[in-house]
Amino acid sequence: HAADAYRTDLMTITRYVLNEQSRHPESRGDFTILLSHIVLGCKFVCSAVNKAGLAKLIGLAGETNVQGEEQKKLDVLSNEVFIKALISSGRTCILVSEEDEEATIVEPSKRGRYCVVFDPLDGSSNIDCGVSIGTIFGIYAIKDDHEPAPADVLQPGKYMLAAGYCMYGSSCTLVLSTGNGVNGFTLDPSLGEFILTHPDIKIPKKGKIYSVNEGNAKNWDGPTAKYVENCKFPKDGSSSKSLRYIGSMVADVHRTLLYGGIFLYPADKKSPNGKLRVLYEVFPMSFLMEQAGGQAFTGKQRALDLVPKKIHERSPIFLGSYDDVEEIKALYAAQD
Ligand code: AHG
Ligand code: MN
Ligand code: MN
Ligand code: MN
Repeated sequence: HAADAYRTDLMTITRYVLNEQSRHPESRGDFTILLSHIVLGCKFVCSAVNKAGLAKLIGLAGETNVQGEEQKKLDVLSNEVFIKALISSGRTCILVSEEDEEATIVEPSKRGRYCVVFDPLDGSSNIDCGVSIGTIFGIYAIKDDHEPAPADVLQPGKYMLAAGYCMYGSSCTLVLSTGNGVNGFTLDPSLGEFILTHPDIKIPKKGKIYSVNEGNAKNWDGPTAKYVENCKFPKDGSSSKSLRYIGSMVADVHRTLLYGGIFLYPADKKSPNGKLRVLYEVFPMSFLMEQAGGQAFTGKQRALDLVPKKIHERSPIFLGSYDDVEEIKALYAAQD
């Protein structure tokens, strides 16, 4: 009957997090308030991305960021939106963004106990051609009441309380973990609400896809080169893996999470620490992968055990299906 056409038990992200928080009786809803401000930022960026071409939001902003990258207008706009939304939540004390050289220390009157690290717009090179891009974030709690400083976010990723990303693609999908599994929510534009569409995401134990920028092959080290060779010419006579590389980490990771397989951004001779940034790319994605039953490896250690020394530090990363990452770990172990 008519009611079947409409799901009436709408599980919105806010309700979901409130249910989660009820597992922590001591919580005063601060995390829920913080998350609602992150969600607000994602909704804004989603709408800006969807009308980028129309609203003259494509192209360069005429500045470069600390990464030495030319900032796109949407990089700058989304950064401002998230900084303002996070500060206005009254629940943060320090913010680290890919687009800001220095950490933002929140003024005392607006301070809370959460530290947020984020990439406001991931995959900027794909903005102007309409390919999926995203926002990535991670949340730490400040240890105790003291003047917040960058040291408060130079913690291993395993101490994150939550991590997630929002992908602006054919639909706007927010994937989140608060340390108790991974859930995906899709924005229903008619309601302006993120609705639970992918409950309890688990990554397949092994996949048939590898995802790497093959254009860097001449600079790879031995184990990476060997692993990719095995993907293309399997020794055990199994079929080759497919290559899928979008160039937006959020999109490549989202596909890996749902379909299985492995995503690699290895070190190479040009960039010995790879390209991806530890705090707001490597850690959140590694956190999600482990929560979904996969794993994340830097070439030397479990990614979430890494202790960053600087807020924009980079690390090589191999993440995805448990068995696939095991194979590359064995190749690195064999070289030691
Ligand atoms: P950002 O746009 O936030 O700077 O991140 C871009 C990153 C990441 O999204 C992607 O995986 C990687 O750059 C692609 O790098 P290459 O173009 O070197 O493959
Ligand atoms: Mn960038
Ligand atoms: Mn990025
Ligand atoms: Mn970015």
